[in-house]
Amino acid sequence: MKDKIVLITGGSAGIGLATAEALAEKGAEIILAARSEEKLKQAAQLIESKTGNKKIRYYVADFSYQKSIRSLAQNVKKDYQKIDVLINNAGGVFPAFKLNDDGLEMTIATNHFAYFLLTNLLLDLIKKSDYARIVNVASDSHYNGKIDFESFTKDKGYFITKAYAQSKLANVLFTAELAERLTGTQVTVNSLHPGFVKTDIGNKNTQWYAKLFWSLASRIGGISVEAGAKTSVYLASSEDVKGVSGKYFDKCMLKDPAPLAKDKALQKELWQKSEQLCPIN
Ligand SMILES: NC(=O)c1ccc[n+]([C@@H]2O[C@H](COP(=O)([O-])OP(=O)(O)OC[C@H]3O[C@@H](n4cnc5c(N)ncnc54)[C@H](OP(=O)(O)O)[C@@H]3O)[C@@H](O)[C@H]2O)c1
Repeated sequence: MKDKIVLITGGSAGIGLATAEALAEKGAEIILAARSEEKLKQAAQLIESKTGNKKIRYYVADFSYQKSIRSLAQNVKKDYQKIDVLINNAGGVFPAFKLNDDGLEMTIATNHFAYFLLTNLLLDLIKKSDYARIVNVASDSHYNGKIDFESFTKDKGYFITKAYAQSKLANVLFTAELAERLTGTQVTVNSLHPGFVKTDIGNKNTQWYAKLFWSLASRIGGISVEAGAKTSVYLASSEDVKGVSGKYFDKCMLKDPAPLAKDKALQKELWQKSEQLCPIN
């Protein structure tokens, strides 16, 4: 990965930080993007001290808001001539229905629309790489997901796990449709489940009982962030998957995604709806 430039969203903590560290260890130039400057600074220092790799840079961006994503893309385009690997990883859970400034429900805005918008805005830069890869961190929660387009902008009986599963199904659908649109280019895109990973994702934004449940469950059953980063690192760097596109992976292996995720009409409908609610230009 020595001459590769890797942009990782949500690289300031959890699976994203462990992914960044592993790729820095392989010699890649790392760009972290997340919302807390303090955490980004600490993450960059930590990666540098652990790996000795000095090519670590960061940008502050809030992936819940399109304005912030557009400004990140502009800055990255100003500073870089190419991106070899984009890892869409930043994500979260939200306990109650809330619209963001763009009129989008927060879960779908952060977990799907951010992937959709950032990827499309950076696609020209990504295509400048000889063999570029896009990696979308999804989840096995997508097997429980259904897409209700109205729920993107209206409260249709919001429930935290339902909204999360929908957003992660959207990641897998988006991956398949993007792969189709990238046919004939040197860019591949795949999605993955990282495993059940001991991170703070369930401790942010949530009520005390959800925090307690997440802390206990992830401490007892969760894998380490290093283990959780393995499939992202594999898809970003392994020769095994060179040229493989539009697929879903778990434990560094191909896996059949949910039947709904393979629905071509739904893949296209999600793309069109996403373009309407989140113009690329
Ligand atoms: N943990 C699991 O068991 C698990 C299972 C399946 C899938 N996943 C997926 O894995 C990905 C990473 O999750 P994780 O468990 O590593 O979570 P995490 O520890 O909470 O880390 C998430 C990262 O994304 C950043 N982030 C979250 N919301 C953001 C926003 N609006 N704007 C900018 N940055 C934001 C966080 O920054 P802050 O630190 O500032 O919040 C952090 O750097 C997510 O897509 C998640 O859905 C996780």
